[in-house]
Amino acid sequence: MSPSASVPVLTIDGPSGSGKGTISRRVAEKLGWRLLDSGALYRAVGYAAGAEGLDLSDVDAMTRCAQTTKIRFQAAPDGSDTRVLVNGHDATEELRTETAGAAASAIASIPSVRQALVDMQLAFRKAPGLVADGRDMGTVIFPDAAYKVFLTASAVERAKRRYKQLKEKGLSVTLATLQREIEARDARDASRTVAPLKPAADAVFIDTTGMGIEDVVAKVLAVVQP
Ligand code: C5P
Repeated sequence: MSPSASVPVLTIDGPSGSGKGTISRRVAEKLGWRLLDSGALYRAVGYAAGAEGLDLSDVDAMTRCAQTTKIRFQAAPDGSDTRVLVNGHDATEELRTETAGAAASAIASIPSVRQALVDMQLAFRKAPGLVADGRDMGTVIFPDAAYKVFLTASAVERAKRRYKQLKEKGLSVTLATLQREIEARDARDASRTVAPLKPAADAVFIDTTGMGIEDVVAKVLAVVQP
């Protein structure tokens, strides 16, 4: 057994807009555990590929890109959001766009791309514990996690949440377009053959439709500290 195997992991999987990002961050803060935002890794690879003008459907080029892209998470000195550096460039803002989400989803369906990112994700498992946010955290990356949650919410509510988030960040989007894009991305994530978006058999399922952030945080914390 590797030393990290004894480090507790809480996996939080679910579709986009289910509140995973916010909830994972808050829960990690409350527990004093590390946080893995696995979606940011796929977004970073998609972004790096786009920056190099590569074809996202070229399996060999995408695999090489996933193997060679240098991704670093850096805590902001003022305590605000963690910055994501892609090949040395601060791409935090670019990675948040729905275009980056769609590119991430496209390359995430390539098995060799997923494989290239496994070790990087496993390396986040360090004491005192890890909150892992993604689509396949409980099913593929940390199947032995002691605590597993699957968060969801209605498609309409998820689109509204993303709309609010993106608007607050000054990005221009319409609710109808966003809902269409989110539904298309979810359909692709759920139907791919490798690591599809689905709850682990042993995950606690939480439907967050109509729930406030603090109520969801409390429910998730209760999974770890009943
Ligand atoms: O969570 P986020 O919206 O940042 O993820 C962007 C995309 O990356 C998802 O739509 C999904 O296709 C992919 N992803 C994945 N596996 C993960 C995390 C994200 O396939 N563990």
